[in-house]
Amino acid sequence: MSSSVCRALLCSKITHNKSLKCAENYLKTGVRKHKKFALTEDRIIMDSDNKASEKYNLVVVDDEKFICEIVKEVLSDDDRYSARYFSSPSRALNYINTHPVDLVLTDFFMGQHSGMDILEATRKRHPEAIVIMMTGHPTIENVISVLKLGAYDYIVKPFKLDTLKLTVERGLKAQRLAKENMHLKSLISLYQISEAMGSTIHLDSLLNLVLQSIVNEFNADLVSISLWDPHRDCLALEAFYGDAEQIKQNPLLSGKSEINYKVLKDAKPQVLNELEDSQESEGTSYTSLVCHPLLVQGKVIGTLNLLRNGQFDIFGLGDIHMLWILASKAATAIEHSRLYSELEQAYIGTIRAFANAVEARDNYTRGHTERVYRIASMIVRALGWSEEQMKNLYMGCILHDIGKIGVPDSILNKPGRLNDEERSIMQMHPETGVKMLEGIPMLEPALPYILYHHEQYDGSGYPLGLKGGNIPIEGRILAIADTVDAILTNRPYRRGASLEKVSRELIECSSGQFDPELVKIFLNVLGEHKDELTAIYGTLQEHENNILTPQSAAQ
Ligand SMILES: [Fe+2]
Ligand SMILES: [Fe+2]
Repeated sequence: MSSSVCRALLCSKITHNKSLKCAENYLKTGVRKHKKFALTEDRIIMDSDNKASEKYNLVVVDDEKFICEIVKEVLSDDDRYSARYFSSPSRALNYINTHPVDLVLTDFFMGQHSGMDILEATRKRHPEAIVIMMTGHPTIENVISVLKLGAYDYIVKPFKLDTLKLTVERGLKAQRLAKENMHLKSLISLYQISEAMGSTIHLDSLLNLVLQSIVNEFNADLVSISLWDPHRDCLALEAFYGDAEQIKQNPLLSGKSEINYKVLKDAKPQVLNELEDSQESEGTSYTSLVCHPLLVQGKVIGTLNLLRNGQFDIFGLGDIHMLWILASKAATAIEHSRLYSELEQAYIGTIRAFANAVEARDNYTRGHTERVYRIASMIVRALGWSEEQMKNLYMGCILHDIGKIGVPDSILNKPGRLNDEERSIMQMHPETGVKMLEGIPMLEPALPYILYHHEQYDGSGYPLGLKGGNIPIEGRILAIADTVDAILTNRPYRRGASLEKVSRELIECSSGQFDPELVKIFLNVLGEHKDELTAIYGTLQEHENNILTPQSAAQ
């Protein structure tokens, strides 16, 4: 690639110097260093009211005027066609570069210019357009190369007028079918993507879904999402697909180029098509970049950045139309996800305040819920739970004793043993907790932890007296974590126990109080977490800090 030399500059009108400056700056800081460079800045403005022309825009190019005249005779009969005729290839190129074109009919040999230049320019500016080559001297090599470069068909001169007419009609029909097909395909996948985005709440999963959809739908080699960070007052690279180094070194893909900020300000997509010839490989290749706004209710929250490499694989108007819809869906879903996350944090914050209020009433249980989470997470990591499940676990641990809010201080802080009546009041806390939080959809995943954490494996627990596998796993995990915290916590009347005592008690109560399989899993990973436990509980009792296994305890 380093020996590649860009040779052509095909550009649409750059309407003011500032845009050109942006493009130049991008190239100065861009990852691709060329001895010479060329850049096209396509300024595509979406206009939903802009109805497509009813007529097909045709261009006919032949340096032999009489051929143009013959073609004109054939095409002028059909009022679906609006055709322009050029005997000068340069003027035809100018026209193609600046006007909408659906079909080009061009001679192959035309003095200085060849039909290949016309083909190349048309493919570059109008990727969906049909190009038909006319030639009097067809060789296999020429035919192969024009078809390879994207020509739809070729006609051998002299041709019959009917052949010409049919080839043009066939080309336009193929174009229409391709457009309809693409449109239908786009609609189906847009619907599926929208559905998926609408039901993906968590930001990381959502960004991954957006990246994956863009890669699949637009055949992009690199994709990134930069979101506006109001705290740092800049765009921040939030997620990407493709080679990390390439993304980070490319200012546009990493969200640092002036073009990203221009898109942020103007809320309009920018397309950069870099055309280059490689001396090492045959043919022409493009690097095509799109920077698209992520727009929510008139406010740009970030940019969606795409890069494609390849022969004639540039982003066309059809791509931008579809990208516009997809980016709008993605932007709305991202905004919802952020709002959901803020709401979730607010909920958790409020609930934490309640949990803290419960803990504050009992000096001995201060920090209990956080510690229970740390221990329970040791078990669920060993079980391979997902991030989503870990989040639910956190919520469940923080809230598991929330029902104690309804237990009077006299019972909660009673120094001695509880009498039967007091015990039954205390044992109501799982159900009280569930009643408090029932009906709040966001907190629903916490309910099994709250309701079942005092159930025992042998069925002797409360509130439901469930047995074995009938106790949901959330309850079985929390029962272990709850007890381990109680054993390890320092109390005024005793120091926290050793890990050996913890393992001995768990083994002794295995099958009775606890799920034996989960006990085994916990004891297997307990050693790995010795430092973490020491950090949580202060110095653990040094003597006999060996961790037992069910087998060694039996010996
Ligand atoms: Fe409890
Ligand atoms: Fe507890």
